[in-house]
Amino acid sequence: MNRTVNIISKNFKKYNPESIEEYLELGGFEALKKAIEMGPQEIISTLKTSGLKGRGGAAFSTGRKWEYSANVKGDKKFIICNADEGEPATFKDRYLLEYDPFKVIEGMIIAAYTTGSTDGYIYIREEYKYLHNKVRKAIELAEKHGFLGKNILGSGLNFNIKVVSGAGAYVCGESTALIESIEGKSGRPRLKLTRTSKQGLFGLPTLVNNVETLAAVPPILEMGVEEYIKYGTHTSKGTKLISLCGNVNKPGAYEVPFGITLREIIYDIGGGIKDGKQLKFLQLGGASGAIIPAKLIDIKYCYEDLEEHGASVGSGAILVADETNKVTHFLKSVQDFFIHESCGKCTPCREGNRQLTKIINRFVTGNASVEDLKTVEKFANVMKYASFCGLGQTAPTALLTAIKYFPVEFYQQIDRIRKTS
Ligand SMILES: Cc1cc2nc3c(=O)[nH]c(=O)nc-3n(C[C@H](O)[C@H](O)[C@H](O)COP(=O)(O)O)c2cc1C
Ligand code: SF4
Repeated sequence: MNRTVNIISKNFKKYNPESIEEYLELGGFEALKKAIEMGPQEIISTLKTSGLKGRGGAAFSTGRKWEYSANVKGDKKFIICNADEGEPATFKDRYLLEYDPFKVIEGMIIAAYTTGSTDGYIYIREEYKYLHNKVRKAIELAEKHGFLGKNILGSGLNFNIKVVSGAGAYVCGESTALIESIEGKSGRPRLKLTRTSKQGLFGLPTLVNNVETLAAVPPILEMGVEEYIKYGTHTSKGTKLISLCGNVNKPGAYEVPFGITLREIIYDIGGGIKDGKQLKFLQLGGASGAIIPAKLIDIKYCYEDLEEHGASVGSGAILVADETNKVTHFLKSVQDFFIHESCGKCTPCREGNRQLTKIINRFVTGNASVEDLKTVEKFANVMKYASFCGLGQTAPTALLTAIKYFPVEFYQQIDRIRKTS
């Protein structure tokens, strides 16, 4: 049985994204009208009840985040929609912007109304160039129909949105690096002495949310929070857009209720493993996520159960690897990514990634030693606790979980060359 659901993805391929009339026919902007009737306090408490957590990876409570932002005083406040989507194997935000741009815009307007913000930015990664003008067109149409601009729907809210783009660095998805990039600086994370909600873009109050987080708000208000929380588990409420890819028959972006098992996702939704092969492992949440073995596919896809096994939902990416994949070779490609994307600002990440790459190369070529396994753990801990931002802190996750779940693959590569020569 296919257990996909249609809440956030309800409008996918149901209307022409260049026609605001078609969006209105599907009930578009009704949630904004409802939000204005509810008022900021009720919106915040609804979001808290919904259990909605940031879908950009950090999973912070959206209701609490909006509450902080609403409580910050300021004549000029910003909303940033984070559409950098640089996490490998992740492509669900692209679907939202491509198939339902007005829903994202509506979510941003509700965020602006709730927090008293004046200006919005949608930061779309450079590689999604084909989306830039499509989203600009949707913004223009929303302006023409009075959903953006001055005194929106008579609520007193003045709010505008601009599309911006960086030069295509993974670290620019990190909220403070993204802010630096919008300011025209080199995209490197900032020291967070003060919350972004107080001092963000141009030193002014700023709320940064992921595309999916913002797009989840209109349906929650529209259907009512009680209906929304019928989906999911007690701790992971509602639904999630996943990006399913790799050696699976039907890759794609799907919406699933939290609590569905990984088996249901891979076999019922994804149509099973390509060419009748066996599943070997999954990587969850992108390159910075954990690797888990096939024997864990009966666990539930939700924050709490994944955490129990050292994994997380992260960006919502689920990469499927069949029996032909060597764990050490796979890790080499993950590590090459981090070497390329480390911004170089701090030593643990810059040097740690270089050292991990050298060690992984030894495992790939069969020249590793037992000492290498101990060194990996030492470096990984330094990186986890001393790196300046999440990139360096999470870079060794795949490697550490792979060693935990596939120790034999590493031991087989220790001194293999010497033993066989
Ligand atoms: C290296 C790195 C890359 C990130 N990339 C993204 C990204 O592409 N999109 C995103 O929404 N969040 C990304 N994040 C998380 C953001 O810093 C931030 O937590 C998020 O945009 C907040 O929105 P949310 O609360 O709606 O999740 C990244 C974080 C790190 C450390
Ligand atoms: S952890 Fe890596 S990406 Fe983050 S600041 Fe340090 S060097 Fe840059």
